[in-house]
Amino acid sequence: MIRQDLTPSELGFAPADLSFIGNPYPVYERLRSIGPILYDQQTDHWLVPRYADVNALLRDRRFGRTYHHLASDSEMGRPDTPESLAPFWHLIRNGILDMEPPDHTRVRKLVSKAFTPRMVEGLRERIQAIVDRLIDGIAGAGEFDLISSLAEPLPVEVIAEMLGVPSSDRHLLRPWSAEICLMYELNPSEEYAGRAVNASVEFSDYLRMLSRERRADPQEDLISALAQVVEEGQRLTEDELIGTCVLLLNAGHEASVNVTGNGWWALFRNPDQLRLLRHDPSLVPAAIEELMRYDTPLQMFERWVLEDSEVCGVPIRKGSELGLLFGSSNHDPAVFRDPDRLDVTRVDNPHLSFGAGIHFCLRAPLARRELEVSFSTLLRRIPTLNRVAEPEWKAAYIIRGLRGLRVSA
Ligand code: HEM
Repeated sequence: MIRQDLTPSELGFAPADLSFIGNPYPVYERLRSIGPILYDQQTDHWLVPRYADVNALLRDRRFGRTYHHLASDSEMGRPDTPESLAPFWHLIRNGILDMEPPDHTRVRKLVSKAFTPRMVEGLRERIQAIVDRLIDGIAGAGEFDLISSLAEPLPVEVIAEMLGVPSSDRHLLRPWSAEICLMYELNPSEEYAGRAVNASVEFSDYLRMLSRERRADPQEDLISALAQVVEEGQRLTEDELIGTCVLLLNAGHEASVNVTGNGWWALFRNPDQLRLLRHDPSLVPAAIEELMRYDTPLQMFERWVLEDSEVCGVPIRKGSELGLLFGSSNHDPAVFRDPDRLDVTRVDNPHLSFGAGIHFCLRAPLARRELEVSFSTLLRRIPTLNRVAEPEWKAAYIIRGLRGLRVSA
């Protein structure tokens, strides 16, 4: 019996602690059993651990990804943004993930329209070709790191190709993205903040130059399509174009890398499930959904409380922050039978890993396609793939994944 007066920290919620990061699920079980909402003093977040509440709050416009469309920092009772972080925040606030309606509605519609069916269709074959090329490079290697040789390069290549970033510049993208994503963690250090600011400046300058080139000389790619929209009028600003491209490049791969790494690691620890997949590759699409549920790649997303509200029966003040626990929701027994069991044949699987509501992942179909191709091709081409050693987790809770995953072919 868990004492009802314990705080999240006392229950083991410790997002800076590697042992919690390695396996947060037993702690989530305790949080869910205590109640629908718990204040965590350490992070100054109201944590929401149950599926039904997270699903409802993601769709409730009293809570936003940002509050800057309504109020200043001081009006929300928050400290001003330090001047030194201005380049980072300017970039982030110009991407759709950190917008709320009406700007979000306008920019999301324009970006969705710019992904032409031809562009998406052309990607199917390209994804298979990229996966084949990457696996050619490792198939005879004996032992290799699955993260650096496949999980990381695949989504970068795909999104870079879709946007139209020249091959010769693609090596720049992953370091920029990784540095910017450090800021998505809770309480990033000053050193991380400085690195994220530098990356924001360099990445923005690069995309500004590229989009101007494409405006003058359009190609069959997403940057040209978006640059055309900027050219035609005031419906999309150049800063919004840059913010959204950076978001696509970052969102487009950090989560996918973690689904591949965490997913294979889960399969290695559940050899009966891996055997099932090897025998019946038609299970791959269901398996991808299950791997995304079982070890959720993005553990928590935040929402600002935009007006004084009652949340799960508790009055919460405007300017507070909610921590919606996706990993916990995806293990809620009220929705998932036997939630701590990996079951690649699970059919009823409404996991929240792609979010819900107006910010639902814009490119979930692309992410699914990429993962299906990479898992099925690896299963087929390297049927003896196995782990070599226990991997280490990165010291990151929100975008949670492995440092590396040594495997043998
Ligand atoms: C398995 C991989 C992926 C996962 C788990 C994932 C997850 C998510 C989640 C949870 C959100 C919503 C965040 C919130 O509500 O606060 C989101 C939004 C978004 N994702 Fe993904 N994503 C993945 C892959 C991708 C890819 C490949 C792209 C683009 C190439 C992408 C582009 C976006 C964009 C642009 C948004 C913002 C949508 C909006 O604010 O309207 N994602 N994603």
